[in-house]
Amino acid sequence: MKRYRMHVNGEPVDSCSGRAFPVYDPSTEEVIAEVPQADAADVDRAVAAARTAFDCGPWRQTTAQERGRILLRLAERVRQESANLAEIESRNSGKPIVEAEFDMADVATCFEYYGGLATKVLGHVNPVPDNALSLSIREPMGVAGQIIPWNYPLLMAAWKLAPAIAAGCTCVLKPAEQTPLTALEFANWLADVGLPPGVVNVITGFGEETGAPLVRHADVDKVAFTGSASVGKQIVKMAADTVKRVTLELGGKSPNIFFAGADFEAAIDGALFGVFINQGEVCSAGSRILVERPIYSKFVEAMTEKAKHIRLGPPLERETKMGPLVSQEQYDRVNSYVELGKKEAKLVAGGKRPGSLKRGFYMEPTVFCDVPNSARIAQEEIFGPVAAVIPFSDEAEAIRIANETRYGLAAAVWSRDIFRAFRVVKALRAGVVWVNHMQPTYVEAPWGGYKQSGFGRELGPWGIEEYLETKQVHINLNEQPIGWY
Ligand code: NAI
Ligand code: MG
Repeated sequence: MKRYRMHVNGEPVDSCSGRAFPVYDPSTEEVIAEVPQADAADVDRAVAAARTAFDCGPWRQTTAQERGRILLRLAERVRQESANLAEIESRNSGKPIVEAEFDMADVATCFEYYGGLATKVLGHVNPVPDNALSLSIREPMGVAGQIIPWNYPLLMAAWKLAPAIAAGCTCVLKPAEQTPLTALEFANWLADVGLPPGVVNVITGFGEETGAPLVRHADVDKVAFTGSASVGKQIVKMAADTVKRVTLELGGKSPNIFFAGADFEAAIDGALFGVFINQGEVCSAGSRILVERPIYSKFVEAMTEKAKHIRLGPPLERETKMGPLVSQEQYDRVNSYVELGKKEAKLVAGGKRPGSLKRGFYMEPTVFCDVPNSARIAQEEIFGPVAAVIPFSDEAEAIRIANETRYGLAAAVWSRDIFRAFRVVKALRAGVVWVNHMQPTYVEAPWGGYKQSGFGRELGPWGIEEYLETKQVHINLNEQPIGWY
């Protein structure tokens, strides 16, 4: 069992209290590591390091070119270590190794993208009248507190750290308590790539004990959060006292809409991939599957048949297509929705722990059909392999059902009729909409939600904006006194 340390001010450190907590392999339910248990004192120490690095350190004098090179070196390092990182990620989160490998490639790509973008942040010359020159210049926002979830552990760290470093901010990152290992491995390389002490700090701990003091801290300028809607709402309230900038990505209940004319094979694949990838522990999971009535029964039958053959197993086996859920707590949460779903709709696949796997938090790919959109399993985020299939009669009804949710992260529409597909795209209230696909994500394109899925956008140029302030500079070109008094 490996004992990890946190990373504060360029040093590996234990928690101030000396306390630590166990980290599990969800496929064996065994402890695989121990990490420090940070509390408010550790938050103070990490924020002080980030504050000093921002206010007094060499970081503010580090050029955009150099920040870009640092990010490229981080990308390079992730690529070199990707096999090891993917294995740790897979073991700790339960995601299949093949998916973890894709994640590590995406992590590297994210650092590369922001490495390139660091030198492309532009200001403006504002077209003001008279004898003045007016500039808008972009500056880093300051100290960023970054709180991330357990479903894509290192990828979520990359989405937050890379734009912050590119912008010239300093960071205190708190990984999810279930999956802190890859972020701690990553922290070991910060000095090697040339990041001054205090620019990136990684502290491990729980939500209330570590996350909340980070959000409340007066020396933190901005909070970026990905996680549950309920914690997101608390974060907005906690951030209010110090008027912090906040960005939130809070998941959803994304509709995946299938019209009768869509390619049938592609549709079934798209429905399964949309909801079952990463065990369904995906913020943009296509967990509401809307199917037009003429193909409805055939669709449910084909989807159910294919779902039953998805290979569950140990995450490190390359043939595995679905691993265990991340924790006992998540298993219990998903299982309680499955039990609820049996009362609200018709269970046609899965719904239990597979008999062949005696240990681990495994849940079979589960399909409910004839689900009323008002059912709780159609309205509440489950964050597990549970699909709610809902029939619809026409385009107008599909749009109405799709938008009848408090969330608005993502949606997808499948049709070969481009007029229809684009009409639906425009009518959907969601931050990401796919046509004839679901889930591909590009670092070049914006990611974030409408409605209660949060606010702010990650990735692309939008991602760095969230770490930049705008300073208006007025330069008087008229040497005369104002002459007012
Ligand atoms: P969570 O929202 O409690 O945890 C996410 C992160 O927030 C973790 O790092 C956690 O330590 C931190 N956190 C928790 N309470 C906090 C607080 N009071 N102040 C500051 N930070 C806090 O998510 P949890 O409990 O692991 O999962 C519950 C549900 O949340 C899932 O079933 C799923 O529906 C949703 N979720 C959504 C995610 C997304 O990508 N949008 C990711 C993870 C969970
Ligand atoms: Mg929670």
